Amino acid sequence: MKTGKGQEVLGEVLNELAAYTITHFSNEERLMATFGFPGYALHKKEHEGFTQKVLKLNDNFKCGKYLITVEIMQFLREWLITHIRGTDQKYAPFLISKGVS
Ligand SMILES: [Fe+2]
Ligand SMILES: [Fe+2]
Repeated sequence: MKTGKGQEVLGEVLNELAAYTITHFSNEERLMATFGFPGYALHKKEHEGFTQKVLKLNDNFKCGKYLITVEIMQFLREWLITHIRGTDQKYAPFLISKGVS
């Protein structure tokens, strides 16, 4: 974005993010389900909300709809920080206690 190539690389970033999001979330969900994490349903719901948003961003971008790069990056940054530093931290001690490393 700082070098004026934001739009150029955004499509690629969104594609990769969509693919990574799906893989990462399904791995997390599989672990939580396997070990019976009590907060599983709520966590999965948060994943689903984010996945929908990422897929929509990706679709809109591909359809050539106008998107403001800064807004997207802020949304992604805020969501990831909230989720990784908040929601994901809740299952970490639980899985560790079950012997998952
Ligand atoms: Fe995660
Ligand atoms: Fe998560």
